[in-house]
Amino acid sequence: MQLTEQQIQDNWSKMRTIINNTFSGERLENLNKMYDDLEDRMVIAPASGKEHFHNAFVGGYVDHVLHVVDFSLKVNQIWKDSGAHINYTDEELIFAALHHDLGKVGDLEGEYYVPNDSDWHRKNQGLIFKHNDEIQYMTVTDRSVFLLNQYGIKMSKWEYLGLRLTDGMYEDANKGYYTGYIHATRLRSNIAYVLHQADMMATHIEYDRWERGDKVESEKVKKSVNKIKDAVDTEIKEKFTKSTDAKDIFNELFGEAKK
Ligand SMILES: [Fe+2]
Repeated sequence: MQLTEQQIQDNWSKMRTIINNTFSGERLENLNKMYDDLEDRMVIAPASGKEHFHNAFVGGYVDHVLHVVDFSLKVNQIWKDSGAHINYTDEELIFAALHHDLGKVGDLEGEYYVPNDSDWHRKNQGLIFKHNDEIQYMTVTDRSVFLLNQYGIKMSKWEYLGLRLTDGMYEDANKGYYTGYIHATRLRSNIAYVLHQADMMATHIEYDRWERGDKVESEKVKKSVNKIKDAVDTEIKEKFTKSTDAKDIFNELFGEAKK
């Protein structure tokens, strides 16, 4: 699965437009500074390293984040219409969706994903990208928060909790937030649930798209192989049927009745 150059560019301008239309003042200035600085790396970053995960291709990161922004707003609407208490703004929701995977872009020194130079791992295990071992290890979420901090981008409590908990219970460190069995430690906003659902949806739908693309691709290969086979068969048939001797050999080989 690959995005065209045009799709990559369109996704990037869509992302910048969302940022410019959602935020304002000093926060917008700082966000634009960060996005300008990270542009070269962010535009090409994948969303994961393994092709059977999701969006493990050039431009996959931005593509994934755009899905999460889109699905967050849709999922949020369902929660709202179903009677949920929404104590955060769309701006807060979009901020958290936009930055929940920011750490996948890398840190100030280097990118997080680098192309896998092992042909064997690419072919046999689908490990298209590998982690850059030149940069300091941090969880993706920690690196997201660190990067925002480096650019002086402040966030609200709900924005922080939203992006911090987007992975739901798939991240062990989130357990304490999600299993607040004591009333006092409960999550006091639905923003984390909405983001987690949106992120899950995006991840699984991106996987489905990859799988479907793969099937379409192998169907195409099968069709063209069959075409070649048919063309070769016809050529052989024509050659043999030109002479009577050859016709006999042909009939013997392919079992057609003599006329
Ligand atoms: Fe994500």
